[in-house]
Amino acid sequence: LGPNTTQECAYYNTSWEKERTNRSGIEPCYGDKDKRLHCFATWKNVSGVVEVVKQGCWLDDVNCYDSSECVEKKESPDVFFCCCEGNMCNEKFMYVPDGPPLTTSNPFPPKQPIISTLLYSLVPIVGLAAVVLFSFWMWRHHKLAYPAALVPTHDPGPSPPSPSLGQKPLQLIEVKARGRFGCVWKAQLLNDYVAVKIFPIQDKLSWQNEYEIYSLSGMKHDNILHFIGVEKRNHNLDLELWLITTYHEKGSLTDYLKANVVSWSELCHIAQTGARGLAYLHEDVPGHRDGHKPSIAHRDIKSKNVLLKSNLTACIADFGLALKFEAGKSAGDTHGQVGTRRYMRDSFLRIDMYAFGLVLWELAARCTAADGEFLWKNPERLL
Ligand SMILES: *[C@@H]1O[C@H](CO)[C@@H](O)[C@H](O)[C@H]1NC(C)=O
Repeated sequence: LGPNTTQECAYYNTSWEKERTNRSGIEPCYGDKDKRLHCFATWKNVSGVVEVVKQGCWLDDVNCYDSSECVEKKESPDVFFCCCEGNMCNEKFMYVPDGPPLTTSNPFPPKQPIISTLLYSLVPIVGLAAVVLFSFWMWRHHKLAYPAALVPTHDPGPSPPSPSLGQKPLQLIEVKARGRFGCVWKAQLLNDYVAVKIFPIQDKLSWQNEYEIYSLSGMKHDNILHFIGVEKRNHNLDLELWLITTYHEKGSLTDYLKANVVSWSELCHIAQTGARGLAYLHEDVPGHRDGHKPSIAHRDIKSKNVLLKSNLTACIADFGLALKFEAGKSAGDTHGQVGTRRYMRDSFLRIDMYAFGLVLWELAARCTAADGEFLWKNPERLL
């Protein structure tokens, strides 16, 4: 039923590989049924001279959804990268940096009214009928095949062995942190470092929740960790759930404060950027350009979940426990607590703010401007 169960991408690799005979050609993509398939291209552009680095199949990645053309939008990157959806869509690639918004032409020209009306009215009906029939068939099938208690859950089985898996240029390098759920690795994706959080299968809900929160409209923000994609992988016969984000060398605020003290102006910068991230997370933004951004409570604010970029700008991470508040839905429905949505929301947001206050206190305790210089020279006295 998925949009791309079979797809081919233009393939190219600058380095010859043992088992490959061609350095360029067409690569068939493989993936799980419930995942989307994408193509990617990376290239260099030295004063207008374009040199392709790699082309091929790409992971299921929200950043490529519904883009039929391969376009790099980041402003002057070191290595150009784009991904797209559709057969051979990476054959051509372009560089169109995010400039002033285009106002010249409407990207969606009006379609023929009769055809579009027919399409819009028929597609949902046919789709609905297909879903009902499929569910009925599944129900019958399961009912006949297994006793009720043994009906398998919807956990995905091991994905089929995929020749493209090894080709995907994502390599784990070293473990950087161990958390409540699995651990966080530094990894290399093409020519960039990324962070890969690996959840064991029993923490699937946490992985799923974090993925859902990152996929909400308007979650791209300077002070919120940038999400790249998710992936299911087999490792030693165990299914692992991966969550891939931007990598920040400085790590968490906890780690940073263990090894460093901060000046007054650094304290202000970290506090301000962190608070900006949290305030944005909490905010309900109906008119965001990506769609309605719901109000989100983090529910696990601590210095370990505040990451520092290389210029000490803070960003908020780890949304495994986060909760979104959408108009008309009760927060009590899914989390075993009862309460009017509005009041639940206010309480959760206040808990986050209180917790952020504690982060600020940790920060102040390691500031060189602190009164008396006692605590920052003797941090163990804090405990
Ligand atoms: C390469 O760079 C030139 C400007 O230096 C630009 O006009 C062109 O669009 C770029 N092409 C690609 C494919 O990146």
